[in-house]
Amino acid sequence: MGRLITVSIDCRNEAARQTFEEVVSRRRDYLITRGEGTGTADMLLLELDEFRPQKTFDHVRELLHSSPHLEVFLTASRTDPQLLLETFRAGVKEFLPQPLTLKDVEPALVRFEGRLMGRASSSETKSGRVVSVIGARGGVGVSTVATNLATSVQQAQLQDSVVLVDLDTHGSDLGLFLDLHPAQGLKHLSKDISRLDETIVRSTLVTHSSRLHLLASGYDGFDEVEPTAGSSMRVIGLLRSMHRHVFVDCGHVLEPAVKEALDCSDEVIIVTTLSLPAIRRTKRLLEAFGAAHYPAGKVLIVVNRYSNDQKELLVETENMLGVRMAGLIPNDYETASEALHHGKPLTMMAPKTAIGQWYTRESQQLIADGAAGNKAAGRKPSNAASFLSRYLPSLGFEAKGKPSAV
Ligand SMILES: Nc1ncnc2c1ncn2[C@@H]1O[C@H](COP(=O)(O)OP(=O)(O)OP(=O)(O)O)[C@@H](O)[C@H]1O
Ligand SMILES: [Mg+2]
Repeated sequence: MGRLITVSIDCRNEAARQTFEEVVSRRRDYLITRGEGTGTADMLLLELDEFRPQKTFDHVRELLHSSPHLEVFLTASRTDPQLLLETFRAGVKEFLPQPLTLKDVEPALVRFEGRLMGRASSSETKSGRVVSVIGARGGVGVSTVATNLATSVQQAQLQDSVVLVDLDTHGSDLGLFLDLHPAQGLKHLSKDISRLDETIVRSTLVTHSSRLHLLASGYDGFDEVEPTAGSSMRVIGLLRSMHRHVFVDCGHVLEPAVKEALDCSDEVIIVTTLSLPAIRRTKRLLEAFGAAHYPAGKVLIVVNRYSNDQKELLVETENMLGVRMAGLIPNDYETASEALHHGKPLTMMAPKTAIGQWYTRESQQLIADGAAGNKAAGRKPSNAASFLSRYLPSLGFEAKGKPSAV
């Protein structure tokens, strides 16, 4: 479905609850929320109060009045026609007779998904584009790239709303890159995702002078808790409905919260360097994305800290990986570190340097290429016999041809 479907259950009948939970948990992208109310849930399984059915119907009407997109599934052991008539009049979308069976629940969920997709396709036209940035390994420059891409896009498209999300739970601090001091972040939002809505997410964002919004991580690497299952997908889903561009710093660990973000991204940028360990890990990441059947053009690779004396190594790496690098960011440790030290984006701190200009010039192209189906990384690789070539079809790359220069 591309987004997380949240389900709330209000059912005292243990057998019915269990059957429903079992069927739901077998389907992808569903999350059963444990919150008390329905919050922003997409669906509620509600049990009829058979002694006071009118009370249940009034409750359904109230719920649908305050959450028009909620779908209510009603379950009861009574199935008389009058009851069914009143059930659907109250706005219930599906009726599940007890005892619940797979035969009844499965098709009801399929019908629900169909209705949800119909609604999504009309609202998705205004939904923002999600670009996730992940490092081949630690320290390759993911945070620098994510922050500076987001700032450059914000500077170039002043009228558009851009948000940067820090999803590195191992101690990243994007606030430092922008001299921002957020009090809360994803960790706070992740506490009860059943209650999340745009207002709560908006109140957690901080804004940079460039107008870029930041959602901090809140995790410092010493936490005992991880983001709750579904939280990054849910938060990104809400952010993309509020912003034109969403950039995500995924750190370099392929953990569940990061996988969720990557799955729901329109574009994934792997940041690597031309060092052997980073190249090896880049290959592993491409294999993982191949196994996940990411569509053609979704994955781009950018080489950070590139210097002109690495031309040969670049060609060898492209041949070995069987893909063309989408961008080469010049090596300039002094400028990159100074910008970080001052908490300023490179395009503001050092707009005339090669690295500053790369972000001003190339970042637009990088995002545009991704939007247009990834022309850069989709160019033909040269080494059909390479180890990686086995994974190319599922990555959407052809296993023949020669990579051309960026
Ligand atoms: N193009 C570049 N040339 C030289 N140095 C760079 C470049 N880009 C980033 N750096 C420097 O590399 C260091 C690491 O950068 P950054 O923090 O962005 O990496 P990271 O992958 O996010 O690291 P971590 O794994 O710790 O989160 C910083 O000192 C940064 O200034
Ligand atoms: Mg980082």
